[in-house]
Order: sequence, then C-alpha cells, then structure tokens
Amino acid sequence: MPIIAPSVLSADFARLAFEVEEVKAAGAAWLHFDVMDGMFVPNISMGIPVLKSLRKATDMFLDVHLMIQQPLRYVRQFCRAGADLVSFHVEADTGENIAAAIALTRELGKKTGITLKPGTPLEEMLPFIKDVDLALVMTVEPGFGGQKFMNDQLSKIRQLRRYIDSKGLNCLIEVDGGIDENTAPLALKAGAEVLVAGSAVFGKADRAAAIDALKTK
Ligand code: DX5
Ligand code: ZN
Repeated sequence: MPIIAPSVLSADFARLAFEVEEVKAAGAAWLHFDVMDGMFVPNISMGIPVLKSLRKATDMFLDVHLMIQQPLRYVRQFCRAGADLVSFHVEADTGENIAAAIALTRELGKKTGITLKPGTPLEEMLPFIKDVDLALVMTVEPGFGGQKFMNDQLSKIRQLRRYIDSKGLNCLIEVDGGIDENTAPLALKAGAEVLVAGSAVFGKADRAAAIDALKTK
C-alpha cells in the first residue's frame, strides 16, 4: 500500500487546518509541504511560520520539500518549526553544502531526503542516497501544482529502484508532480512507495474517494 502525501500547495490556505484534518481522516499518512523562494524556482509559496502553525494543528508526518537556493541556511529553522523530514535538491548548492544540510538535519533528529529536477541525471543523486531516508523523483518541473506528469521520468524511477535494491538500502522512493489516478499506477509499477498529490486530492470535493483512487488502481 503506497503512502499518500497530499501537497498542501493545492489546499485552501485560509482553511488549512480543516483541509488537513480532512485528508488525514481520508487516509493520508503524510503531508507534503512545498517551500519555494522565487529564485530556485519561479514561484513563491510558504515557509517557516506556516509550517509552525501546521505543526500545532496536526500530528501528521510533515514531509518538507525545499525548493530554495542554498538550503543549508535554513535547516535549523525548518527542523525547529516541526518538519519530520526535509528534502534537498542536488541543484540548489555545492555537493559539499548539500551533504552538510543532510548531516545537520540528521543531527537535529529529523529524517532527510534528496531530490532532483527532471532534467538532472540520476547519477547526481546517487552519492547522497546512502545517507538519506527518501529519494524524491520530480515528474514535473518544480514550481507549480497542476502540471502534466512527465512519462519520460519513469525510467529514472525504475533505475533508482534497481539501485536501492541492489545496495540493500533503506531509502523510500517518492514521486512528485502530476500524480492522479492514471499516473499513480505507473509510478508505483516503476518502484515508487510514496506518492505526492496536490490537485488530485485538494482539487476534488470528495477527498476520501480521491485518496482511495490513488491507492487502489
Ligand atoms: C511542484 C511541487 C509539487 C506540487 C504537486 O513544484 O513540488 O509538490 O504541489 O502538485 P500536483 O500533484 O498538482 O502536480
Ligand atoms: Zn513537492
């Protein structure tokens, strides 16, 4: 059974606590929290104060996806604000600084993830895999919800699945972008274990039916 991580980027921010309660009741275990700085990606979303409020409102697992330049600068704040897991983009800084961000997150007692944009080869992520709990494959260009799933990323997911299995690593594969009831089975078949879904959950009136559709097909 996959873990479903609704992306709050597509929620109604004025009703955030209610939206979150609803998806929890509907069977989602994680919440995906997209942080954008208007530099690493061409959009600005939300940050530390919103995460803090969300932490008070729910006991769900908070999966923080940092789409910001030089994320090492903000690791302490996001961990203190209540993240359970923080993911870093390989493109966001030097390898040395990304490794330092991962190490600091672990030191602060949180789980970590590594991620990459669709155009970045899988090889750039592999040096970090043994040190993280989650590897996130983007199946849209990061920056916006509601985009179309990029089928050409499926081979990257399959390759990653083989790599993790061959090394016997304890690292979950998460897929983010364009997940709906048609693309979820493709991502799962390729080896994904965690599915992020923004518009396919918060864009639907019946959240329970929306989440079930992602799990069962
Ligand atoms: C895009 C974000 C995604 C986004 C997914 O940059 O990382 O998490 O919210 O939205 P959907 O599921 O609508 O593609
Ligand atoms: Zn995301």
